[in-house]
Amino acid sequence: MPDTGVAPGLDRHAIATAGARHFLDLDLVGQAELRRIVEAGKRLKTAWRAAAHEERAGAWPGRPLDGMALAMIFEKPSTRTRVSFERAIGQLGGDAIVLERESSQLGRGETVADTARVLSRYVDAIMLRCTKEEKLLELAANADVPVINGLTDRTHPCQIMADVMTFEEHRGPIAGRAVAWSGDGNNMATSWIHAAVQFDFELRLAAPPELPPPSDVVDWARDRGARVHVTADPAEAVSGADCVVTDVWISMGDTDAAGHHNLLAPYRVDGAMMGHASDDAIFMHCLPAHRGEEVTAEVIDGPQSVVWDEAENRLHAQKAILLWALAPDLLD
Ligand code: CP
Ligand code: NVA
Repeated sequence: MPDTGVAPGLDRHAIATAGARHFLDLDLVGQAELRRIVEAGKRLKTAWRAAAHEERAGAWPGRPLDGMALAMIFEKPSTRTRVSFERAIGQLGGDAIVLERESSQLGRGETVADTARVLSRYVDAIMLRCTKEEKLLELAANADVPVINGLTDRTHPCQIMADVMTFEEHRGPIAGRAVAWSGDGNNMATSWIHAAVQFDFELRLAAPPELPPPSDVVDWARDRGARVHVTADPAEAVSGADCVVTDVWISMGDTDAAGHHNLLAPYRVDGAMMGHASDDAIFMHCLPAHRGEEVTAEVIDGPQSVVWDEAENRLHAQKAILLWALAPDLLD
């Protein structure tokens, strides 16, 4: 199957569907499964918040991952992903082990494949945040346990699960609604395109022509009848939208970011841009944010912003992803 962005010999679909229940990307998990995960995330949030502190261990679904462990490998920095996954597995009764590339043998040349084989003997799931998607696929191809994508240069699916949950928490079902992206056509934009297909909403992406979202992913979405529009005009994208989203101008590991500031300045989300959106539009940002660059303080700290709920929902959405991977019978 032809797939761009992937090393020859690594077939994303084959790896995703063979063996363990990997959560590699939103185009590689079925629509019904993704919906189950979002609904479980909402219930997990309600259950966790409803239970008094001392009763939380007994709140649904209890501690189903007692005795299990999640290894998290970081090639890039993280605040939210690291803490929310560690808390997520902990709230489900399991343990987290963090490995950083430079302080593990990965930093001294041990292969991803050997790391996958060894970790599979110790832990029950592996989360990886890395640069190239090929490393994620190589890990999954050689692991006997579920592998979860904690961000690559190409996608960030766990974040979008939290984002869909956040939209629905504030505005009801996302199907049929309009989401506008204004900024770099980066890893977040790519996962938003996957989500537009899987959750059936309209996505309008405004990006500089020099920094477009990957054309193969846009084509993939359009082949599936998705309403995914790409424009260079942010006002056009945002017009009447139910949700406005942006992201940093320079992503982690961007080696060719000279000029991004000039290219992306017209895509900054400010009060005037939010004025083009629907009156009750919400603003989302995966964070970390750079106030005054991709978004003004007036917007991110203003009444339309739901970024703190969005950050919290990483925790609950990821509990649902962990249950889906490790205890799927308990998800519903
Ligand atoms: N949004 C997100 O993934 O944040 P971190 O880089 O802090 O994990
Ligand atoms: N596009 C950003 C997302 C950070 C969560 C990056 O890759 O750095």
